[in-house]
Amino acid sequence: MAEPGDRPARMLDGGLVLRTAAPADLDQIGALLTERGEADDAVDHRLVVTDPDLGWGACAVVVDGSQVVATATLLDEAVRVGDVVLPAGQVELVAVATSHEHRGLARALMGWAHRRSAERGHVLQVMIGIPYFYRLFGYEYAIDIAPAREVPHDAAERLAAGAARAGEVGAGAGQGGPVVPLLREATTADLPALARLQEAAQAGFDVAVPHPAARWRALLGQSASALRVLERDGAVVASARVRPGDGLLVAEPAAVDEAAARDLLAALAGEAVASGEPLSVVHRAGTVTGRGWDALLEPADDAAEQYYLRIADPAVLLDALRPVLARRRVAAQFDAERLGGALLISTFGAHYRLPVVGDGFGPVETGGPMQGPGVHRGFGVAPDQLGALLLGGRGFAGLRRLRPDVYGDREVGEALFPPQTADVLSYYLPW
Ligand SMILES: CC(C)(COP(=O)(O)OP(=O)(O)OC[C@H]1O[C@@H](n2cnc3c(N)ncnc32)[C@H](O)[C@@H]1OP(=O)(O)O)[C@@H](O)C(=O)NCCC(=O)NCCS
Repeated sequence: MAEPGDRPARMLDGGLVLRTAAPADLDQIGALLTERGEADDAVDHRLVVTDPDLGWGACAVVVDGSQVVATATLLDEAVRVGDVVLPAGQVELVAVATSHEHRGLARALMGWAHRRSAERGHVLQVMIGIPYFYRLFGYEYAIDIAPAREVPHDAAERLAAGAARAGEVGAGAGQGGPVVPLLREATTADLPALARLQEAAQAGFDVAVPHPAARWRALLGQSASALRVLERDGAVVASARVRPGDGLLVAEPAAVDEAAARDLLAALAGEAVASGEPLSVVHRAGTVTGRGWDALLEPADDAAEQYYLRIADPAVLLDALRPVLARRRVAAQFDAERLGGALLISTFGAHYRLPVVGDGFGPVETGGPMQGPGVHRGFGVAPDQLGALLLGGRGFAGLRRLRPDVYGDREVGEALFPPQTADVLSYYLPW
């Protein structure tokens, strides 16, 4: 049995078949996603499988005869760490029919997604998902999700009133009057400006996951959220992804300057006040909107919210990150001797040696179990903590305080594995 792309379909227990999805499955997949999630998920799915960069190969189904009983989708992502860009995968739109739960179908689909991800050269996987579940498939919480913070009602009213006054003045002032910024729905023509705004917003983060081109296209057609742009003098100067419903949520805000950030918030506050909805905005620390809005907002809830990360092969990830690690070593002025000739990381069941070569690190050499890396001036890092160590907000200093299975030379560890600031743009909004 073959399927598009020559990927063989897999026979599962009970005569079920796992295969790449096909156009004839569209309605059944949509119905399943709607039944187990939201109607918006069916729209998101259609946008993925009809996109030229992703297409039907990005989605798998399990069928019981002619009935689709489970589905999952793998999106292509890129994770930037410093100046290294890592190809990555994101599993999305996972659903199993209630009639077929607890039979290993989600597990089988995760296996499909991870095989496809490896074939596409992904170095890691990042995702948002229901709590705990994905840890069963090699994921671990690693990257903090930026908090959504409420705009107090009186502040929203003040902002909205200010925006309305500016509108009246602008309208009454005729040709020579002040230019009132215009908030409108984004169109295809805005995509380059939207991407530029996000690039600028993410530039200051150590770790960034931008929207790939396929996602930008999908976001224009998505029903779960809407893309808005703020125009000033005919140019796009701010943007946001807005989700109404359970209050007005402003996600992925970006602005070119303080005035654009203020005008964006005022215009959105106007909408929230007019519809009687509370307003929350995602706080992107250190960005133009983050700095501009911070003082106005309620404090963030301190409950942990994190993206999941999966590292299929630490050697591949460490190899890709060699330039970043080398720059940190040079900046800290650690010579080969200080490191014992190599950066050694043991995940206990295996170990990884990056020999010091000139100003850099040579290719990763993989070895077997190593219980005591400290003897070789190496680091012990539990495999499920490696993602948090390399991409997370605690760094070595924070992790070693929390976890007995993350240890090593303190000075070297703090210099080579500093806390990372991160900004992730995902299809599904985690708030
Ligand atoms: C969550 C869901 C995908 C699980 O599908 P499933 O086919 O029943 O899962 P599997 O049978 O493959 O279970 C795999 C493992 O997860 C465990 N498990 C199943 N549901 C779980 C849950 N909600 N939380 C924690 N563990 C769970 C199973 O016990 C099994 O463990 P084991 O392999 O060690 O025995 C399915 O219940 C579903 O579609 N729910 C509604 C939609 C949803 O939540 N989608 C995920 C969005 S991120």
